[in-house]
Amino acid sequence: MAVRKIIRMGHPNLRNVAEPVPTEAIGSSELNRLIDDMVDTLHDYGGIGLAAPQIDEPYRLAIIEIPGGPGRYGEIDAFPLTVFINPIITVVDEATAGYWEGCLSVPGLRGYVERPQHIRIDYTDIDGNPGNLEFQGFWATVFQHEFDHLDGRLYIDRISDSSKLVFEEEFVRYGIGG
Ligand code: NI
Repeated sequence: MAVRKIIRMGHPNLRNVAEPVPTEAIGSSELNRLIDDMVDTLHDYGGIGLAAPQIDEPYRLAIIEIPGGPGRYGEIDAFPLTVFINPIITVVDEATAGYWEGCLSVPGLRGYVERPQHIRIDYTDIDGNPGNLEFQGFWATVFQHEFDHLDGRLYIDRISDSSKLVFEEEFVRYGIGG
């Protein structure tokens, strides 16, 4: 178990398309150690999700844990710590809504991004079993943000109005985002 360094915007590996986790790796001590490191790192840095490429591991693997309650993203529902291996997103409804996103690989900034608000996720769980979930609203945004990292994409790529990319400090000072 170890806290790993999160690589930041500008590190070329953040822009690579990650490789699928091989089926035979699931359940291995090596993969489980990587997942433990991701959990430790997420908890140390403080955040609601972490993708393996953010700690410079080129695999299609992400963890999400939304504490819920009031916080930097307003009043939100909790989602327990879950591991997603080789996830695939399908948009159920194209209708979008925007949220002010932040990212541990883009520290100190917030940006307004519009994304589809009803998605389905197919993935493999930590035991190697297939799973699928449907999400709407803020959760749908969180999963799209996190899984974008697996394709080398950052939320800043999806900002359509560059005046809505701001420093976190000013975001708070000027009450941007309500
Ligand atoms: Ni991110």
